Amino acid sequence: MKFSVKGFDIHAGYLDVAAQRALLGAVRGVVAQAPFFRPQMPNGRPMSVRMSASGQFGWVSDKDGYRYAPSHPSGVAWPSIPAEVLAVWQSVTGLERQPECCLINYYSAEAKMGLHQDRDEADMQWPVVSISLGDEGLFRMGNVTRGGKTESMWLKSGDVVVMGGDSRLAYHGVDRIRAGSSKLLPKGGRLNLTLRVVT
Ligand code: SIN
Ligand code: MN
Repeated sequence: MKFSVKGFDIHAGYLDVAAQRALLGAVRGVVAQAPFFRPQMPNGRPMSVRMSASGQFGWVSDKDGYRYAPSHPSGVAWPSIPAEVLAVWQSVTGLERQPECCLINYYSAEAKMGLHQDRDEADMQWPVVSISLGDEGLFRMGNVTRGGKTESMWLKSGDVVVMGGDSRLAYHGVDRIRAGSSKLLPKGGRLNLTLRVVT
């Protein structure tokens, strides 16, 4: 089922369980090479989510600020974006242009992500595609400027969100996770993959 909330295109139940498992397997392959790390915000505090990435670029944050980086903090190059992940971008956007980053966020039961804009990319005409796997996450959607009315919905495993057009620069975040709401990840938690064109 596809619907729109504040310009965010929500493809609810886009991926069936077999597709979710295939993506999970692909993510495991990536993090075997580029292990999850906990980025520090520029103020020095650690983020509650753990991150990895695949593609030409990953997104990193430390005391020097937020940015795209060509390698994992350990120095290894990011693995390439798995074909299963690219296939989702292809089917949901129909674009010829390919994403250059698949950011992987892992939310344990206590993790969350504050309201923010995705604005480190060079060209905002390209959408950001988000894939949710595992436990449900309460996704908050705001406006292109900070403040104002927001709307929230629980994103479930297999849901895909496209942030394009009016929602491309809209504030968004994850208030909390519903621990134990999915059996996809044996140890629980939520994975979110975001696909971005960076350059
Ligand atoms: C993000 O904005 O990077 C992640 C969004 C999500 O976890 O659903
Ligand atoms: Mn974001």
